[in-house]
Amino acid sequence: MKRLFLLLLPLMGTLGAAAWSGDVSIETPNTMLILHAGEGQDLRMAYYGLRVTGLQELRNAGADLNSSALPAFGTVDMVGLPALQVLHADGDLNLELRVDNYEVKAESASKTHIFTMQDKLQPVTVKVFYKAYDGVDIIETWTEIVNAEKKAITLKRYDSGHLVMRQGDVWITHMHGNWAAEAEPTSEPLTGGVKTIRNTDGTRNAHLDAPEVMVSLDGRPQENSGRVIGAALCWSGNFELRFNTISHKEHHFYAGIDPQSSEYVLDPKQKFETPHLALTFSNEGLSGASRNFHRWARTEGMTHRGMKTGDILLNSWEGLYFDIDEARMIAMMDDISKFGGELFVMDDGWFGDKYPRKDDTSSLGDWVVDKNKLPGGLGVLTKAARERGIKFGIWIEPEMVNTKSELYEHHPEWVLQTKGRELKLGRGGTQLVLDMTNPEVQDFVFKIVDDLLTQNPEIAYIKWDANASIQNFGSLYLPKDRQQNLYVDYHLGLLKTLQRIRDKYPDIVIQDCASGGGRANYGLLPYFDEFWTSDNTDALQRVFIQWGTSLFFPANAMACHINHCPYWNTGGRVIPIKFRCDVAMSGRLGIELQPKDMTDEERQQTSTCMADYKQLRQVVQTGDLYRLISPYDHKGVSSLMYVDDSHRQGVLFVYKIDNYYDQPIPRIRLAGLNPDATYTLTEKNVRVSQKPCSLSGKRFTGRFLMEVGLELPLREEYASRVFFIEN
Ligand code: GLA
Repeated sequence: MKRLFLLLLPLMGTLGAAAWSGDVSIETPNTMLILHAGEGQDLRMAYYGLRVTGLQELRNAGADLNSSALPAFGTVDMVGLPALQVLHADGDLNLELRVDNYEVKAESASKTHIFTMQDKLQPVTVKVFYKAYDGVDIIETWTEIVNAEKKAITLKRYDSGHLVMRQGDVWITHMHGNWAAEAEPTSEPLTGGVKTIRNTDGTRNAHLDAPEVMVSLDGRPQENSGRVIGAALCWSGNFELRFNTISHKEHHFYAGIDPQSSEYVLDPKQKFETPHLALTFSNEGLSGASRNFHRWARTEGMTHRGMKTGDILLNSWEGLYFDIDEARMIAMMDDISKFGGELFVMDDGWFGDKYPRKDDTSSLGDWVVDKNKLPGGLGVLTKAARERGIKFGIWIEPEMVNTKSELYEHHPEWVLQTKGRELKLGRGGTQLVLDMTNPEVQDFVFKIVDDLLTQNPEIAYIKWDANASIQNFGSLYLPKDRQQNLYVDYHLGLLKTLQRIRDKYPDIVIQDCASGGGRANYGLLPYFDEFWTSDNTDALQRVFIQWGTSLFFPANAMACHINHCPYWNTGGRVIPIKFRCDVAMSGRLGIELQPKDMTDEERQQTSTCMADYKQLRQVVQTGDLYRLISPYDHKGVSSLMYVDDSHRQGVLFVYKIDNYYDQPIPRIRLAGLNPDATYTLTEKNVRVSQKPCSLSGKRFTGRFLMEVGLELPLREEYASRVFFIEN
């Protein structure tokens, strides 16, 4: 998808003068957003939910239809929060908007409704966009602010969107976490006052708190029932999600770029387009809202991979860390091709000339092969991959530099910094962030990829990492009076560079990684094919991390790798290989270990897993997800399944996550099947030296599977089962 929204485009045309009034229903297959404006008024929001007949029906039902669609400071009553506030050139802080124009632009799979509003006093125009998809229940909204004043104005608050919800027993669920413990769904009821979820890391916004939220309108969140609004801010930088409950009538939801330290200066004759906010509404619980996001992601939000499936790969990081060399790389290629894998990725440690990369203290920025480790260069490796019938991929961290590097020696001015202040150093005690606001740096970053791919056209995959936050707030490129644009312009520069790469290399597969899942967001996914879900590959913890991540992101975006045991990240935990495989098979499968150290059982199980995964992968990676039993509900078992579009094929995953005597194991009730069809169950990735369990080969109606459910044999610790379900 081309969603290089942005940004600062020269102002065109003249501002309209005539006031517009009317009612507008914005429709997706099952949902409706109703807006209206009276003569000389700003835009008002009346309704968002399942389809109704229209505004009159709501009026008849006594609904209060008087909330501003995008409350602006100056119009909004003073106890409400503004979504928009502008400091005009003359010091005026108000906006009083009136709708001047309404138009609809139809595209092949969507309609975009555009409301143009004008301030009643100052020459500032605000456009509000709602893009409704014909085939999926998603509406994207965003805002454009046009400065026709003679001098610069400051955007003090510039949210992407705002929603009004009827007050009730409303709960919110957002992803909270940390490095190696990403995406823990955190649910709480909305109470009076303001609740803010934000991230101010600067470069990565999905560790700690992520830019998405689910709002359950019918009490405590349920997976498969209840009305849910889902919202994902499509932005990779700092953000703020706010809920304001001021009266007993409404909850207000706002989402946008965090304006703290980012009150954006907008020059005359320029316009600023906010990131998009993707909204969904489902009456099928959290799982229903997730399915809408996944469908939209596969068609719009991450169009590059779309309905394509990802390759089974071996990534060298956890098997070797920095200890790579030619022989080890080729040995790993042998191993992955023998297992039946399709791609080998050489992770960190392959580069640096004057300062070879031995650990994380040096070399970022010097993207040339370390000739001591790889005397034959990359050519030997791509050739070796070709000879083994697999593809080759490579790790880079292009936005970063170590102070111990040739790049830093030549271009100290390219790092984010403030003159005269001591640099705060990140990973390895030497890592710094390059100034992506600077076009020369953007060119440099583009060239890293361009050189790699022109010199080695057989590279099929890039792992693009980002392992530092913005700790040194300052740009030597931005003028003194534009420093506050840094947080935003960094990401605009990054997106511009990624678009250049995508324009030239549309087919290269790129993984978005940031110390694990730090950049799992819809701001970047239009340019990437998948993301590294977490640096924690412990299979038990991955059940939880992948569960949370799946709230918004589809399985073909989620890289899930089988790890080695004992596993250091979780204190040396040892988990049977069968369970490790089954957990990784529920996303884009890969392995992250040194195959040389595997036992025979591990090797056999991994080969079985890869062969079976190839049969299941289309359904897993592009099917509809039904989350059945949450690991967070502490029922001893977690379960999820995928179902294809025709409801003829499904894949069921069940993991035993507790183990004690006389443990109640819940019956597994399936979802998403055709109640009247009969399905055959076939157990997959059967444990080495065991036979398929007694349910394998049995036939059941969809109704039975969904209403009565299965009693699965899950006796031993870390028992797990995978079933293919086919009509
Ligand atoms: C980050 C990534 C890892 C690995 C290392 C390499 O931590 O998340 O997967 O690539 O960097 O330094």
